[in-house]
This record gives sequence, C-alpha cells and structure tokens, in this order.
Amino acid sequence: MNAPAPAVTVIGLGPMGHAMAAAYLEHGYAVTVWNRTPARADDLVARGAHRAATPAQALEANPLTVLSLTDYDALDAVLEQAAHADLTGRTLANLTSDTPARARAAAARLAERGAAHITGGVQVPPPLIATPGATAYYSGPPEAVEAHRAALEVLTEVDYLGADPGLAALYYQIGMDMFWTALVGYVHAQAVARANGISAADFLPHARKTLDMGYFLDFYAPRIDAAHHVGDVDRITMGAASMAHVADTAAEAGVDTALPQAVLAAFSRAVEQGRGADSLTRLIDVLGAAD
Ligand SMILES: NC(=O)c1ccc[n+]([C@@H]2O[C@H](COP(=O)([O-])OP(=O)(O)OC[C@H]3O[C@@H](n4cnc5c(N)ncnc54)[C@H](OP(=O)(O)O)[C@@H]3O)[C@@H](O)[C@H]2O)c1
Repeated sequence: MNAPAPAVTVIGLGPMGHAMAAAYLEHGYAVTVWNRTPARADDLVARGAHRAATPAQALEANPLTVLSLTDYDALDAVLEQAAHADLTGRTLANLTSDTPARARAAAARLAERGAAHITGGVQVPPPLIATPGATAYYSGPPEAVEAHRAALEVLTEVDYLGADPGLAALYYQIGMDMFWTALVGYVHAQAVARANGISAADFLPHARKTLDMGYFLDFYAPRIDAAHHVGDVDRITMGAASMAHVADTAAEAGVDTALPQAVLAAFSRAVEQGRGADSLTRLIDVLGAAD
C-alpha cells in the first residue's frame, strides 16, 4: 500500500500564504485552506485543495497548520473564531509578522489549549517560496520543529534559533529594521533620480553598487561589539555634512526630505553631544542602545 499523502492546513491566503499553499500542492500534500475572504482560495481549490468552512475546521483538519496573516490581531481574530476547536496535540507554525512579545504571548495561550506554537519569520518574497536558498527564522519547541521539519522545508530552509518563541520574531524584526529603511531609502533615491530626468533603470546599476554593503557590515560589526568608535575612517561631522547635501539635493528636486532629515537629526544629536570626531558607529549610543 502507498503511504497517504502528507497533509497540511494553510490559514491566510494573502500573497505569502497563497504561495505557500500552492507550493504544498505542487509537492503532493493534501492541503486544507481557510481564508477570511473565501474567493482567494478559489484557484487553489480548483487545483485540489480542500476549503474548510471555518477556522476551527481548518485547524482540526491536520496536525500541522501554517498561518500567514497580516499580524497577531488577525491571529487573535482567527483563534477567537476557533475558540471551541480541539487543538490538543496540534502544531501551529505561525509565519505571521509581529513583535517578540506578541509571539511569546500567543505561544503561552496556545500551550494552555494543548497546542504547540512555532514562530516563523520568512526572509523571502512570495515568488521565492520553495526555491533554493529561501530561508525563514524559526523558534519554539524543538520537538515540534523536528516533527514538522519536512513540511516546513517544503517552503524554505529552516533557520532554527532556539526554544524561546520570541526569538524568530526578534531576528525577523531586526532584519526588517534594516530592510525597510534601506528599501525606502532606495525608493527615495529613485524619486530624486526621477525628478532629475534619470529613469529607475538607468540608475539601477549605480544603486546596486551603492547598496552592496557587505564590506561596511563586516568592517563595523566588530567595532560596534568592541565599542571602538574612533573616527579613523569616517567622522560624524562628515556624515552630518553629507546628509545635509543629500537633503538639500532632494529639496532642490522637490522631493520630500523627511527621510534624509531623520538621518541628519541623528548625526546632529551626536555632534551636539561632542561626538563629532567619532565614527558613525557612535550613533548606537545616540540612538539609545547601551554599550
Ligand atoms: N509579502 C511578502 O513579501 C512577505 C515577505 C516576508 C514575510 N511576509 C509576512 O507574511 C505575512 C503575510 O504576508 P502577506 O503579504 O500575505 O500579507 P497580507 O497581504 O497582509 O495578507 C495576510 C492575510 O491575513 C488575512 N487577514 C488580515 N486580517 C485578518 C483578520 N482580521 N481575520 C482573518 N484574516 C485576516 C488576510 O485575509 P483577507 O484575504 O481576507 O484580507 C490575508 O489572507 C505577513 O506577516 C508579512 O509580514 C510577507
């Protein structure tokens, strides 16, 4: 006899959850889906997915449910609708973004219902789900992660950080701190380019060179850990002058300057505190982190 197909439930069919459900179907899983807006499941159902009528039915359908929701308010709304579902022995792999505190609270609430909560943080966009090199942070009960590793690895490589359910959310949010500021910086720069008649495509090769920042990440990390903020390579006064030029160039192009002004304000605060001759890593103190 053939072994039964592996099975999984996916709750939340935004771009990310939809890509995950599709990946499971492609890998031969029996997939149960539930989404607040049912129509988002239509094409998956046409390809063989089972549409659960309620979140409770979806959660009870399989030992493993993957959740991909906007935030933990949405998780709370889903779990409220499944308040009477029997979650004993179930595992919820929650790939929804939110704070570490909310991940820990959700894990504690689900433990009271006999369920394991694995926190996840996906590091790739939906089109890269189930492609080589895709990774996601995970934390939570190691036995639950091991029990469902094969299913999780359909989606991404598993970067397991430890038992604390907050860890995956923490690493994910630290990453997003860089990701969003860098990417909005890119869009801001392209706005200045466009205002000067330079297309995004024309500026792209230059943007790629500027944002290839591995050298700087490697150079500054040990200096941050050693609190070695000597301005032998760069000085905060130089950074402040440079950011003022960036803000002025944006203003001359009629582009909003709030973003460069926020960076300039951090440099200026460091100068006011007498740190103008230090390296930009001194900003780690100015921004509030302890040595
Ligand atoms: N998209 C990406 O590039 C990307 C990359 C990495 C990580 N992530 C993370 O992955 C998660 C999902 O991403 P996404 O782009 O698919 O997000 P999304 O567009 O916000 O979709 C999320 C899902 O949440 C559901 N939802 C929202 N509020 C709800 C509520 N109150 N009750 C029930 N369901 C609710 C939506 O249902 P409806 O269809 O009914 O609106 C939808 O299915 C997010 O936490 C995101 O940060 C996304």
